[in-house]
Amino acid sequence: MRSPRKPLSRDAVLVGVALAAATVTGLLAFVAPGPAENRRLTSLSGPSAMEHALPGVDLVFQTATSQKRVTDKVTRHSYDLMYGTFLAPLAHKSNLKMLEIGLGCAQSYGVGASVDLWRTLLPTVELWEAEFNEDCVKEQRAAGTLGDLNVLVGDQSDPDTLKRWIAESGGAFDVIIDDGGHKNFQIKASFDLLWPELKPGGFYFIEDLQVGRGAKATRRNPDIIISDIMQAWTEQLLVINLNQEQARKHPLPKGCAFVMCQLDACVVGKRPDGFERWSRPSRMAQVARDIGVPERLVQDLYLQD
Ligand SMILES: C[S@@+](CC[C@H](N)C(=O)[O-])C[C@H]1O[C@@H](n2cnc3c(N)ncnc32)[C@H](O)[C@@H]1O
Repeated sequence: MRSPRKPLSRDAVLVGVALAAATVTGLLAFVAPGPAENRRLTSLSGPSAMEHALPGVDLVFQTATSQKRVTDKVTRHSYDLMYGTFLAPLAHKSNLKMLEIGLGCAQSYGVGASVDLWRTLLPTVELWEAEFNEDCVKEQRAAGTLGDLNVLVGDQSDPDTLKRWIAESGGAFDVIIDDGGHKNFQIKASFDLLWPELKPGGFYFIEDLQVGRGAKATRRNPDIIISDIMQAWTEQLLVINLNQEQARKHPLPKGCAFVMCQLDACVVGKRPDGFERWSRPSRMAQVARDIGVPERLVQDLYLQD
């Protein structure tokens, strides 16, 4: 016969409750985004090197997810990586001027979610938003949701519109973000006219490059798939293509210092003034020696920058 159970002591009950709570919390951490998971650079094995090197990534994620409307930059995409790396350190920079193409008029989470992020992250930024959907802009203005936001209306693929945007805003941006229509011809048209408007030392972000790899997109404009262009520029930065075909088709933009890519997106950096050491002509003689060809063979390529 089993002996009757002894009543549990108060301490045993408390320990049991604490263990149960810890187990539930641990399980929740795997299924629901809690504070532990939000610190995304902390890996399961503990703090990562990246967490120390790039504290801005967590800052962007936390800032974006604490807004009333949360941009898909940090939900569907992981753009906290590039924005945390390049923009978070600019939080206290004065006279920062930024243009984003794409206010987010058809977004299920609300219009202007990225504006909320930028205004919180970069409180003194002079922010310009460019948007195709004029009715949406008018509605938002009437509803008072845009505040004193500078808005440019029109199609990012139309050169005349782009020239008007430059004239209205005064150009000379430190940061340009293309989060507009995401089609290759739209991104290309905007980049061609807006890259010269990026100040030396500035950043040009291009989001959602996977869209331009779709079957319809590639059929329509097989020669201007932006992902191919990013790869052509990267190749030219890394090595010299001596038959020059690639460089002629997709020449590096003037003053391009780097192309850095992540899932779905790239950022193109413009060389700061006076950084001739970073330029292609400065490398001409050395590169010719490195690859064992006469200097004149690489001159054509290097002199265009
Ligand atoms: C992905 S949403 C932008 C999301 C917003 N930046 C955010 O993070 O919440 C894309 C926006 O670009 C606009 N857009 C689409 N095609 C465009 C074009 N050709 N020119 C300018 N804006 C365009 C759309 O109307 C939409 O508002």
